[in-house]
Amino acid sequence: MIEMTGQLRVREMTLDDVDGVVDVHRCCFPASVSIFSVLDRRIVKRYYELFVKESESLGAVLVEPCTGRIGGFAAGTLKPGVQRRFVLHNFFPLCWYVFFGCLTSATIRKVVFSHIKSIPAMFKEKKAKRFAGAEGSSPDGPVGFFMPIAVHPDFRGGGNAIRLANYLTSQFFERGVARVRGGGITTGNIASRKLFAERLGWNSKVISDKWIAVWIDRK
Ligand SMILES: CC(C)(COP(=O)(O)OP(=O)(O)OC[C@H]1O[C@@H](n2cnc3c(N)ncnc32)[C@H](O)[C@@H]1OP(=O)(O)O)[C@@H](O)C(=O)NCCC(=O)NCCS
Repeated sequence: MIEMTGQLRVREMTLDDVDGVVDVHRCCFPASVSIFSVLDRRIVKRYYELFVKESESLGAVLVEPCTGRIGGFAAGTLKPGVQRRFVLHNFFPLCWYVFFGCLTSATIRKVVFSHIKSIPAMFKEKKAKRFAGAEGSSPDGPVGFFMPIAVHPDFRGGGNAIRLANYLTSQFFERGVARVRGGGITTGNIASRKLFAERLGWNSKVISDKWIAVWIDRK
């Protein structure tokens, strides 16, 4: 399925898009949010390759037709725990890149230490349970999990995030999902709050000082 969006095109993410997706990820998410923004890009590339290869994944990219440049992406899955599976399948290369990064860069050392305490949480999935609990009603069928959405600064402000999000959400519903659950928005992320809660009309609930749960049901 291809949707034309003025100059830019939204379509399904493929393995050929991974390099562009990695560039957008590293540009859009600060190191405080994603360690992938500072680690060697080869390990980040492995993550997105694994993501695209999983049959439960749903990915969308925003492409500039004349150059083929990837201007943004949105990702989701029917089977949560992609990050955990990635860590388990790539444990030794990941350790190597983290170790090497720590040896060579003070920024990476700082980010690694700040992320260490979140590693056990990745295996307990407490945060995911809190998001589900915020919804108040049970979904009327399977749940899909919306992961990151990012638009490169060169392409922001023209409704591209809305188009990407709508594209991915309809892909979820076409795959039989009854509710799409966001991975959580940080309270300070004004652009993301406005996008999901106001422009896309998703349900939202503040669940802590840091997190807002967002979700949408199939009509
Ligand atoms: C969030 C993000 C994807 C929005 O991309 P975008 O292309 O600017 O979004 P859109 O043009 O589709 O705009 C969506 C709405 O959000 C508003 N918006 C975008 N950036 C904003 C900002 N910094 N402050 C306030 N509102 C903002 C837009 O004005 C628009 O509303 P409007 O149509 O009523 O004007 C982009 O800012 C981004 O990549 N951020 C970094 C990554 C991130 O935080 N992702 C979300 C969490 S996973």
